[in-house]
Amino acid sequence: MCGIVGFTGVQQAAPILLEGLKKLEYRGYDSAGIAVMSDRSISVNKCKGRIARLCEKTGDGTDVKGTTGIGHTRWATHGAPTEENAHPHLSNDGRFAIVHNGIIENYLSLREELTADGYRFESETDTEVIVHLIEMYYRGDMRDALIRTTNRLSGSYALGVICTEEPGKIYAVREASPLIIGVGAGENYFASDVTALVSHTRNVIYLEDGEFAELSTDSIGVFDVLGHEINKKITRVMWDVQAAEKGGYEHFMLKEIIEQPAAVKATIAPRIRDGKVFFEELDMSYDDLRDIRKIVITACGSAYYAGCSGRYALERLCRIPVEIELASELRYNNPLIDEHTLLIVISQSGETADTIAAMRECKARGASTLAIVNVVGSTIAKLADHTIYTWAGPEIAVATTKGYTTQVAVLYMLSVYFSDLLGITEDEKPYVRALQELPRAIQQAIDMNPSVRPLAKKYHRSSALFFIGRNTDYAVALEGALKMKEISYLHAEAYAAGELKHGTIALIDEHQPVIALCCNPAIMEKTLSNIVEVKSRGAEVLALTFRNNHKILSVADDLLFIPDIDPVFSAVVEIVPLQLLAYYVAKENGCDIDKPKNLAKSVTVE
Ligand code: G6P
Repeated sequence: MCGIVGFTGVQQAAPILLEGLKKLEYRGYDSAGIAVMSDRSISVNKCKGRIARLCEKTGDGTDVKGTTGIGHTRWATHGAPTEENAHPHLSNDGRFAIVHNGIIENYLSLREELTADGYRFESETDTEVIVHLIEMYYRGDMRDALIRTTNRLSGSYALGVICTEEPGKIYAVREASPLIIGVGAGENYFASDVTALVSHTRNVIYLEDGEFAELSTDSIGVFDVLGHEINKKITRVMWDVQAAEKGGYEHFMLKEIIEQPAAVKATIAPRIRDGKVFFEELDMSYDDLRDIRKIVITACGSAYYAGCSGRYALERLCRIPVEIELASELRYNNPLIDEHTLLIVISQSGETADTIAAMRECKARGASTLAIVNVVGSTIAKLADHTIYTWAGPEIAVATTKGYTTQVAVLYMLSVYFSDLLGITEDEKPYVRALQELPRAIQQAIDMNPSVRPLAKKYHRSSALFFIGRNTDYAVALEGALKMKEISYLHAEAYAAGELKHGTIALIDEHQPVIALCCNPAIMEKTLSNIVEVKSRGAEVLALTFRNNHKILSVADDLLFIPDIDPVFSAVVEIVPLQLLAYYVAKENGCDIDKPKNLAKSVTVE
């Protein structure tokens, strides 16, 4: 989704802004632009398509004079991805330029009002009303103009603003869309995402909703909605530059797949002591859990599928009913949620608009909220009553891998932890040992499947792929099919294997390969029957199963393997060969793997 950068310092701004925008490319965008101020005038450069074009247009920024500026990557919502609609947008008098993330819900009425007052609109965006409002309200005091302007807006917005009357200053405003200040020496920055800042500084200030900031080369002032200055804490970001770079891999996605043993270990290991799981950050007791009648998990995309996988372990170990709902559905369902509900919210970015909205709805109904989030200081992390961070490090590829596996790992740990608190598990040691084994098992799942590349060559031309599985295998099939769709654009669908005969089997023939997940010995025979059913209708079958599963060996055409692990916790291992398969199929298809078309890493609009 849209990205924002801002810079003020003594160096030329445009190259720094373009470099920052490149760091945000992974979020997904369809046009980009920068506005730089010099000698009391603002020059704007924009283009449709990739930032590389903007770099060509501006000599990598060196043709643009000035040391103060703002930049933007746009993911079109209001109006097509065109140069006119790309940000920054200028005021009619040319004194103000702004960039905006989010949606202004009342923009139509504001547009009518401003048009009637004589303001000329150059774009179809909701954003443009903001810059005209600023022009209207500016009387020589930018802070006052920002307060008056934001009082008129409803919706979500992170704004970056420059004004020719305020040389050397950049302004940042936050309401329901993330914005972070980077604290430098003799220069300061802001960005919608910490990855655009870490190559310059790891000292950051997180703006909260309703706050705005005025940055110059050597000062940072943060203010509340009334304009009162607030003392803000400077936080040190733990991610380093290397963590957000490719490190010799062709794609971030491959790097992030390979990083999973380390990411899952970083998530699990610090939380295990003396054969027990501890979540110091949770501060929960038996009394807190005793009154919980059900757990509701909500999330979007892969985070939702992480919930589907984790649900089995939670129900099995804690004996608490678990419901799982898509965040975009839950909030409109008049949900049966009260103070006896524990809402588990899962989000890599911590900024997904639908997830935030569902969470707010459930909080208002009295649910206690526990967030599983990767990005420290993100909106969901702050909104939740309890937050558990997945220590996956920065995830840059749009299609999540280590984000997903670390989320599932946290759900597994929670199931052991809650079960212990509730006094259900007599002996949790075998579970804890199984958790500790997971990083090694993931590494084995990477190492033991060299055949995944040739298999990708074999299957990449299929018109569709069906993923089937039962129980936990089905939950993994959902995520496996999503990975395939997202990055290879190959039509992939996941079905509960037992449902095949209720309709979907009509689609099976020799042209539709089936990927059968068969990793749970207890239900293996049932899935085996489904494999035989699809084979007898001509389908080729690629089976994912545990080592030495001789029954499957003799039926399937091709095989991928996982090591022997406790099936309660197998999803984090099972998904890995499927991630690799999707990756190599996408590579065979020549796709833009890290930045798939139409997708965004962090979906900050509903
Ligand atoms: C987008 C991403 C997905 C992600 C989903 C939820 O659709 O492309 O990879 O699973 O958002 O994101 P979250 O940050 O809330 O986990």
